[in-house]
Amino acid sequence: MTDSLFSLQGKTALITGASSGIGLHIAGVYARAGAHVVLAARRTDRVDEAAAALRAAGHAASGIHLDVTRGDTIAAAFDAAEQAAGAPVDILYNNSGVIYTKPFMEQEEAEIARVFDTNLKGAMLVAQEAARRMAARRSGIIINIASTAGLRAGGTLSSYCASKAGLIHLTHVMALELAGKGIRVNAICPGNIETDMQQSLKDFEQALVKRTPMRRFGRPDDLDGVSLLLASDAGRYITGAAIPVDGGQALTWM
Ligand SMILES: NC(=O)c1ccc[n+]([C@@H]2O[C@H](COP(=O)([O-])OP(=O)(O)OC[C@H]3O[C@@H](n4cnc5c(N)ncnc54)[C@H](OP(=O)(O)O)[C@@H]3O)[C@@H](O)[C@H]2O)c1
Repeated sequence: MTDSLFSLQGKTALITGASSGIGLHIAGVYARAGAHVVLAARRTDRVDEAAAALRAAGHAASGIHLDVTRGDTIAAAFDAAEQAAGAPVDILYNNSGVIYTKPFMEQEEAEIARVFDTNLKGAMLVAQEAARRMAARRSGIIINIASTAGLRAGGTLSSYCASKAGLIHLTHVMALELAGKGIRVNAICPGNIETDMQQSLKDFEQALVKRTPMRRFGRPDDLDGVSLLLASDAGRYITGAAIPVDGGQALTWM
């Protein structure tokens, strides 16, 4: 009963930003839960290698190229994903993201654009393409990977925080509009998770751990439970949620 509730057997999951960190890890989790996983990112050598490793372990997996900032290529990426899986995308794990740390007054226009184009506009365009296809089948699940930075202010992270706050609010609007079309939309708000992205926050590591009630950074596998919950039948009545997975970090200012 418990196994079947969280099972992704027979489902196709498209995971963006799957060449490293959280996306790469969750691809393995979803594959082991029975999904055909399509790993997408710009570094195709990495997604192809990860997909091959999953196939060698007996799972169904493919790698495709995706640059979420290239809106004109997103529909073709979905076509490639569906062709590789031989089935439409049931679950979108909308995870591609970049970070940029600089004091507010020094943030540069090109970098601000890169952050918004990836974390907000890119995520929206990918979700839009998924929703169009899912609506035609009146079924689908979209999981946006936001951040505690979208819930609380973080110094030197103005464009990142604003992009993630936008993604959380976008999740609410999407959930509202898409519920009647059979599509559930939720956001996960991770705290500090040990991935490549954390390297840019190294200088603040001790201070951040001190401000986390559970007194440790998260690991990608701390996201397994919530990612399975939202993608499976276990989460069938959940939509419009933005779930912090952050050791309590968003609760407190000290
Ligand atoms: N680590 C944390 O503490 C933390 C906390 C809260 C939220 N998050 C969020 O979690 C998500 C994953 O981050 P991570 O920690 O796993 O960092 P990561 O290891 O740096 O992964 C980021 C992923 O995003 C992909 N990406 C970046 N730009 C892209 C683009 N234009 N098109 C397609 N893919 C792109 C990268 O792939 P390519 O470079 O190969 O394209 C990479 O696979 C991000 O949205 C991040 O904001 C992370």
